[in-house]
Amino acid sequence: MSTPSSLSGKVITVTGAASGIGLATAHLLASRGAHLALADISASALDTAADSLKSSYPSAKIVAKAVNVASSSEVNAWIEDVVKQYGHLDGAANLAGILQPMGKTVEELEDEEWDNVLRVNLQGVFYCVRAQLRAIRKGGGEGGKGGSIVNAASIAGIQGATGLAPYSASKRASVLMRRDEK
Ligand SMILES: NC(=O)c1ccc[n+]([C@@H]2O[C@H](COP(=O)([O-])OP(=O)(O)OC[C@H]3O[C@@H](n4cnc5c(N)ncnc54)[C@H](O)[C@@H]3O)[C@@H](O)[C@H]2O)c1
Repeated sequence: MSTPSSLSGKVITVTGAASGIGLATAHLLASRGAHLALADISASALDTAADSLKSSYPSAKIVAKAVNVASSSEVNAWIEDVVKQYGHLDGAANLAGILQPMGKTVEELEDEEWDNVLRVNLQGVFYCVRAQLRAIRKGGGEGGKGGSIVNAASIAGIQGATGLAPYSASKRASVLMRRDEK
């Protein structure tokens, strides 16, 4: 299946690509002619996802790498690899995220539970966006045309959600993370 579109030949990274919205986004982008660099913390699920994408879109260029978005060094190395492999970066869909723990009140939460959600959903988005902006600026997004980055927030990040204090806080903070022009 292929649909003519302006995404033809665009190089786009997708995090959380092994399942859910990330995998669905990867299918949509590949169907529209994008070249993909997929990342997920789950290496085996990512391999399965990449294999299914390659068989569905044989003409698409697709590379996949196990990356923990909560590690700035892993994210930086991944984006450097993507630029080495494809020559430039045009866009990114940052969809890796975690919800757990669910159902705990603030007073019941352990430090590690809070920190883990913030590390993935907030620091992870920051590490990805920073590396991606640097790459898009440097490579000029296909010769100086800029690029696009999409991050997944949540309605919980706008109005909060019961039993999801760290998740809601992480999503709210990522909504407020503006890219300022100099
Ligand atoms: N599904 C929904 O209804 C919904 C609603 C609002 C927002 N969102 C957001 O959309 C995004 C995708 O949600 P989903 O429902 O597809 O979730 P999902 O759990 O199906 O997929 C998330 C993916 O992220 C990966 N991941 C988790 N931690 C990671 C890490 N440290 N590094 C790299 N990859 C990691 C997981 O392995 C998984 O493949 C999330 O950010 C989520 O918060 C989802």
